Amino acid sequence: MNRGKPIAYLDNAASSQKPTCVIDSLSDYYQRFNSNVHRGIYELAEDAESLYTNARKCIANYLSVENNEIIFVRGATEGLNLIANTLGRSQLKRGDVVILTEMEHHANIVPWQMICEQVGATIEVIPVLPDGSLDLEKLFNSLANGKARVLSICATSNTLGTVNPIKKITEEAHKHGIFVVVDGAQSMPHEKINLSESGCDFFVFSGHKVFGPMGIGVVFGKASILDILPPYQGGGDMIDQVSFEGTTFAPSPQRFEAGTPNVAGAIGLGRAIQYLSQLDMQEVQVHERKLLKEAQEQLHQIDGFKEYGTTANKAAVLSFTISSVHPHDVASILDAEGIAIRTGHHCCQPLMKSLGVEATARASFAFYNTPEETERFVKAVKKSVAILT
Ligand code: ALA
Repeated sequence: MNRGKPIAYLDNAASSQKPTCVIDSLSDYYQRFNSNVHRGIYELAEDAESLYTNARKCIANYLSVENNEIIFVRGATEGLNLIANTLGRSQLKRGDVVILTEMEHHANIVPWQMICEQVGATIEVIPVLPDGSLDLEKLFNSLANGKARVLSICATSNTLGTVNPIKKITEEAHKHGIFVVVDGAQSMPHEKINLSESGCDFFVFSGHKVFGPMGIGVVFGKASILDILPPYQGGGDMIDQVSFEGTTFAPSPQRFEAGTPNVAGAIGLGRAIQYLSQLDMQEVQVHERKLLKEAQEQLHQIDGFKEYGTTANKAAVLSFTISSVHPHDVASILDAEGIAIRTGHHCCQPLMKSLGVEATARASFAFYNTPEETERFVKAVKKSVAILT
């Protein structure tokens, strides 16, 4: 419920709702298997260990990669920080270039800025075209200019819904020996991801956006690259031998998982991925895009309505403004009607600047949303225009 009305939850790009099986897997772990992993030699600890290991396997299988290529982190943000710190620290030097795009989330900008400042590398930004697509010509020129070492790019934009052609971009980047890091936070809930096919070197996502728990996420890294990277954080569990003279480190993924991990979170995420693997992601896409289309068709009839990101195969994310109406005011009226959307800069201030707006209102759909919810959303937006103009 929301403000006493049945909720129409259209803020899925911010966080998704969780199926019962995921919620049950968390309470089951705490009630029946709660103990630490990698340490105990008693049955309870072995059970916890095997649930944790199985979660990693399940995620690796789903993504078509190896178990030791899956690292558990707190979420996509920590994942990108891990990659910027390990890959950046070991592979970037003064004069190198990291390529980002104008549609990146702050989580895929700030960690790179911090590391570039430390090592003397610079950032080059690929612009977004008026329809919200990436300027691929500019990107391919930059990939070929001999300076770029890393490309870090979102698979799907959280604000525009744009779906970037990651496979094609990765192939092009690899011709020039450039590492490809993909922020998959917004693509995982909407399409079947196969990382062996995509070919990227790193991929990150957050559990809470793929129907899993908060505070857990994944970094995929190719084993051959993880093997040459230094650790991220130091502590227990990530070592081989420790003495006051020096420390040697465990292989991946342990090397990157210092301290007691979020065991319950990993188990819950494994369950969410199992749930996802039972959905037909083609059907999910068709359903979500149908809802998007229904909303677009009606909302574009409103005077002064503007949608940001209009590419044909965009994900079901609808960012919009209505002239002379503040997005926050629209969202407040929707809130009173039981409809949850997000407004603001969506952690994409550089993108907002290039779009020439401070904020947009954003509805984002998931497989469980319905035509009735979409209809209520459209009606409420129309009502907000009637009240506010
Ligand atoms: N990154 C999340 C969003 O787009 C929080 O809303």
